[in-house]
Amino acid sequence: MYKQFLNLGRQPLANKFLTKAQTLKKEVFYDLNIGFNSEYSLVSILKTIPSKKMFNDKYPYRSSMSNTIIKYFYNLSKKIIKDFNPNCFLEIGSNDGTLMKNFDKKKSICVEPCKNHAKITTRMGYKTYQNFWNLKLAKKIKKKYKTVDLIYSANAISHINDLKSVFKAIRYLLSEKGVLIIEDPSLLNCLKLGSYDQFYNEHIYVFSLLSMVKLLKKHDMEVYNVEQLSTHGGSLRYYIKKESNNKFKIQKSINNQLLKETKYGLDKFKTYKIFGKKVENSKKELKKIFVNLKKQNKKIVSYGATAKSCTVFNYCKIGNDLIDCVLDTTPDKVGKYTPGTHIKIKKYNKNSLKNIDFAFLSAWNFKNEIFMKEKKYIKNGLKFITHTPNPQIIKKINV
Ligand code: TYD
Repeated sequence: MYKQFLNLGRQPLANKFLTKAQTLKKEVFYDLNIGFNSEYSLVSILKTIPSKKMFNDKYPYRSSMSNTIIKYFYNLSKKIIKDFNPNCFLEIGSNDGTLMKNFDKKKSICVEPCKNHAKITTRMGYKTYQNFWNLKLAKKIKKKYKTVDLIYSANAISHINDLKSVFKAIRYLLSEKGVLIIEDPSLLNCLKLGSYDQFYNEHIYVFSLLSMVKLLKKHDMEVYNVEQLSTHGGSLRYYIKKESNNKFKIQKSINNQLLKETKYGLDKFKTYKIFGKKVENSKKELKKIFVNLKKQNKKIVSYGATAKSCTVFNYCKIGNDLIDCVLDTTPDKVGKYTPGTHIKIKKYNKNSLKNIDFAFLSAWNFKNEIFMKEKKYIKNGLKFITHTPNPQIIKKINV
């Protein structure tokens, strides 16, 4: 049973960027409410959208659009090969192959439901199943490959509603001594940073180690190591094994993280109620900043057409009256309009920020990369607005 602690209002589908013609038609909206399930210490959005509506041949998000992610996946592949040297490596949610391209084609399997992305890895020569992850697919793969000794998934498991089915399928396919590695935004970070924009239709869950431990227990699996990552505003990487596998010892990191999470109160509803209040305040403060700047005729853009900012803009009612345009490099987003708020998305180029006074950090999770890139403009007076950890105009940027 989930108990609601946050109401983020009526929201459109976060990655459904619109053509001009579509902005004139009726959009689909849903109620974005967030709840806490005390049995699993699990935080989830309460109304889910059917997967096929979100992950199809038009899914715009591409991992390769950020240099940070390209480098990050390159380094990760080296680490996985060094630590595990898998005979068969499978990635759930392989997107456009940004991680996979670092692995041996003969020993790797991509699983990706979005046709536009699955096509890319197929073209690159990787065996790609254009499917949603489930037991039926796991059975099909097992018939062909017998065992898979490393399953990896970054920012995909939290997108799947039926977690029972997810873990059942993984357990079925993973070899006895195999390892499952999951990465997803950390609930502890999300709460500490007030980053309520982690919640949108695709992010059904925001996990903590507490919740992961409880979920996996039901499938005779356990987390034996956990690492803190800086990606997506602070994520956790969970190293998971079957309980019967004693090749890997439970690391100290597990107790340390569990202690941090319980100390912060991630197992208590009260903590989430406090977060809910903080978010309501954040909404008022952010709106005030935009309105004040607009009164002074400042030119404001948004940096990155992110799914996260869809939540912020629709919740705070920040639209094309306050933001001139959104800048992004992703080909599938450029020329379109933001969902719900209809702000034009323009192709980023190195002159885009000329004559701009303020940029909202929609892609705040890449702020270091962005600040480095925009050094010249920052020195010339460009300022950034952010809502995390608190709504503010960032005073000092060291570049
Ligand atoms: P992401 O942070 O993955 O956000 P979400 O999961 O909320 O959609 O998306 C980052 C977006 O920002 C993506 O569309 C690419 C864009 N982007 C740029 O246009 N320029 C940049 O320098 C960076 C870092 C990102």
